[in-house]
Amino acid sequence: MTDITIIGTGNMALGLATRAVAAGKSLQLLAHKDKGTAEALAAELGGSVSTGVVGDVLTSEIVIPAVFFDAARDIVALYGDSLTGKVYVDITNPVDFSTFDGLTVPAGSSATEELQKATTAKVVKAFNTTFAATLAEGTVGGQPLDVLIAGDDQAAIEAVVEFVVAAGLTPIVVGTQRRAQQLEQPGSSTSFSLPTISSRISSGTLR
Ligand SMILES: NC(=O)c1ccc[n+]([C@@H]2O[C@H](COP(=O)([O-])OP(=O)(O)OC[C@H]3O[C@@H](n4cnc5c(N)ncnc54)[C@H](OP(=O)(O)O)[C@@H]3O)[C@@H](O)[C@H]2O)c1
Repeated sequence: MTDITIIGTGNMALGLATRAVAAGKSLQLLAHKDKGTAEALAAELGGSVSTGVVGDVLTSEIVIPAVFFDAARDIVALYGDSLTGKVYVDITNPVDFSTFDGLTVPAGSSATEELQKATTAKVVKAFNTTFAATLAEGTVGGQPLDVLIAGDDQAAIEAVVEFVVAAGLTPIVVGTQRRAQQLEQPGSSTSFSLPTISSRISSGTLR
């Protein structure tokens, strides 16, 4: 068993895996197709990291697909019932990349809610408002990063909060899965991440 499974080897996978290793978590890192990319990232990370490819048996109770929304849907379909009861962390911003001015999810929904309809995992929104580079760094402007979290299952939220705190970041639970609709709005990531919300509150610049 491992603590956290990260799927993907791109920008966010690097950021999340860096924080997980810093938190002392054991990792399963699954590449899209080429195990060599996971092995290369694992070598860069150090720590306790096992590697594989998508389709391998999941060895963690917390699963973070660090992929785009379409790929996340594929992953949920592929893993099916083996995700039951696991904490699925949805980091996606389902942006319509043809216009960069809209979302690919239906009005009144979110990637998180759409994924929840398709899986028996407990889906929690988190990390979609943190930039990959600052996540790898762990701080922004000398302040710990805020991680905005939304979910319906209390135990799943607590598991994500535990990881976030262990990683040296600041968890902010903003509400139920429906709040993912606000977190995914274009502009949310830039407005929430620089500077961090908690520093803006303490400085009186967030009203
Ligand atoms: N970048 C950011 O600052 C940022 C911030 C907040 C949230 N996000 C969200 O994080 C997610 C990942 O972004 P990113 O910047 O890390 O993207 P990225 O660097 O392009 O990485 C995407 C990863 O997904 C893998 N992948 C593609 N199709 C897949 C599939 N069907 N099954 C499994 N893996 C697949 C890719 O593998 P191959 O390259 O081998 O195909 C790659 O490792 C997106 O949903 C994005 O909206 C990004």
